[in-house]
Amino acid sequence: MNDKLVAPSLLAADFANLQRDIEMVNQSDADWFHIDIMDGVFVPNISFGMPVLDAINKHAKKPLDVHLMIVDPDRYIKAFADLGTANLTVHFEACNHLHRTMQAIKAEGMKAGVALNPHTNVSVLADIIQDIDLVIIMSVNPGFGGQKFIENTYNKVKQLKALIKEKNASTIIEIDGGVNANNAKDLIDAGADVLVAGNFVFSSEDQIKTIKELKEVIS
Ligand code: DX5
Ligand code: ZN
Repeated sequence: MNDKLVAPSLLAADFANLQRDIEMVNQSDADWFHIDIMDGVFVPNISFGMPVLDAINKHAKKPLDVHLMIVDPDRYIKAFADLGTANLTVHFEACNHLHRTMQAIKAEGMKAGVALNPHTNVSVLADIIQDIDLVIIMSVNPGFGGQKFIENTYNKVKQLKALIKEKNASTIIEIDGGVNANNAKDLIDAGADVLVAGNFVFSSEDQIKTIKELKEVIS
């Protein structure tokens, strides 16, 4: 049985052919759509917002895994729920009241996630891990696709896995940034459950095959 998941990041899709790329993911072995929302304030880039997510939601047949790289995300929790979001992840570094934010996301019927920047130690989650459904460990600095994987990520995954065990939590671990067929297996062995892959999937010639290969590597 393979309970390890792959989530292609639409940030690397061809936005002029978004429906085509969504259908590709629908037909592939991928498990989730990873969707990066950037506000140009929390990160030095702007991606896309609600109208595009609305369009994605109309065609996507797999769960929407939304990664918010925005300040003050609480303002938009209901809006993201209304747009079909399954998992809503906020950044630890963008939240003053993370416990409240987790409860607000769950109250809207979504899974609640927290993302950690590369410089943020996993120990900051010690007192809240039981309230978190999903942690995204950023393996690049957020803001752009196609960056080089940060090797310290393996240590962070192991530390987080130990924390989850120690606290008897059921949180799952997602890795985001620079994932490819060379590091996928080591990430799973370190304790990861979900791998996001943007450029590795979308810049390959046969995207369906690339997703299949990534799933095979981690199963
Ligand atoms: C970076 C985003 C990632 C990105 C991953 O800020 O959060 O999800 O799309 O892209 P790759 O796999 O190309 O590093
Ligand atoms: Zn992301």
